Amino acid sequence: MSKKIAVVGQGYVGLPLAIAAAESGFAVVGIDINEAQVATLNAGLSPVGDISDAEIAHAIARGTYRASSSFSDIEGCEITIICVPTPLDAEHAPDLGALESATRSVAAHLPPGSLLIVESTIAPGTTRGVVAPIIGTEKQIEIAYSPERIDPSNKQWNIRNTPKLVAGLTPAATERAVDFYSAFINRVDRGESVEVIEVAKLLENSFRLINISFINEIAIFCQRLGVDVRDVIKAASTKPYGFMPFFPSAGVGGHCIPVDPSYLSHKAHEIGAPSRFIDLANDVNRSMPAFFAGIAMGKLGALEGKRILVVGIAYKPGVSDMRESPAIDLIAELRSRGAAVSWHDTLVKEWAGESSTPLTSGYDLVIFANPHPGTDISLLGQTPVLDTRGGY
Ligand SMILES: NC(=O)c1ccc[n+]([C@@H]2O[C@H](COP(=O)([O-])OP(=O)(O)OC[C@H]3O[C@@H](n4cnc5c(N)ncnc54)[C@H](O)[C@@H]3O)[C@@H](O)[C@H]2O)c1
Repeated sequence: MSKKIAVVGQGYVGLPLAIAAAESGFAVVGIDINEAQVATLNAGLSPVGDISDAEIAHAIARGTYRASSSFSDIEGCEITIICVPTPLDAEHAPDLGALESATRSVAAHLPPGSLLIVESTIAPGTTRGVVAPIIGTEKQIEIAYSPERIDPSNKQWNIRNTPKLVAGLTPAATERAVDFYSAFINRVDRGESVEVIEVAKLLENSFRLINISFINEIAIFCQRLGVDVRDVIKAASTKPYGFMPFFPSAGVGGHCIPVDPSYLSHKAHEIGAPSRFIDLANDVNRSMPAFFAGIAMGKLGALEGKRILVVGIAYKPGVSDMRESPAIDLIAELRSRGAAVSWHDTLVKEWAGESSTPLTSGYDLVIFANPHPGTDISLLGQTPVLDTRGGY
């Protein structure tokens, strides 16, 4: 197979997709407006934890992958997939700026009759109501939507073995997208419509947000009651049906769980439907840093001048991604109460002009936010520990 495809946006989602397609024999050009990122990729270096330098170098050497900042490279590609960020703006409303800009950029270069697939997470109606009008009808482009489900650092579920949802604006678009993904993904499921799977993606991540916030509220309840929430979860997990364990934390982070549900609630507001669970879940999760600062005060008294080390500041273990990490608010909360806060994170290393501090004893308190696997906590000696994952 030597079909040419373009993947627009070479980040956490677009790069693994580009490399998986390249490995299965597609000739892939990965397009990104970040020229430094393009240069890094063409030098065979990976900016994304789940893809190794060797995988990129191998695909480049085989001639099945290269990165580019030129949208004209889309000319000659049978399929173009858009994987650009869809964040929230300052008012917590969907920011479609990157998606609209990328769609305009590709529209000028899509070959007639080619297939365009959107993978970015979007609100229902966006593929049909925003993307399709920008593309227009002149070149008879087929358009499909296929939400990405990648879970960075997950060793069990990856791009190949996580079932992929696909729906096109036409049956032909659906079938062409199914054919494409079936070349390198074990199971591809057709959705009833583009709108159905746009909502399905938001449902998946809202389900997670709401359950994480619920277990965080239960964790507060358990702390007041004097039982360890981890023991409660372990006990409840013996039920073989109707229960799914979620685990407490300092809150949610990353580009998906804190963001995608707001795409749903924003749409709900637009169409006059309720979204109270999402609003409540956001309130609970955003209150967790203050809750843990309160627990720290319970252990140390006033935090003024107290030396606190926060361990694992990325949004989850095993990644270096700081986007929306709850540790940001936790550190700010502790500092606002006068604590002298340092942090340790072997994957983040540098953040906001600060550097990771070595693990040592001598702190008044250590707070585990998201320690990475392999963190040697014996280096902390007898320092008291507050673990946001339970047992406070
Ligand atoms: N990160 C995840 O775990 C994850 C999981 C599932 C779905 N998603 C969704 O996938 C989409 C992409 O997320 P991500 O985490 O890969 O983002 P990212 O920030 O890691 O990567 C996006 C890339 O797109 C590039 N870009 C921005 N605007 C562009 C434009 N106009 N043209 C070309 N390139 C452009 C950026 O330079 C960046 O390299 C989002 O909609 C996100 O919600 C993310």
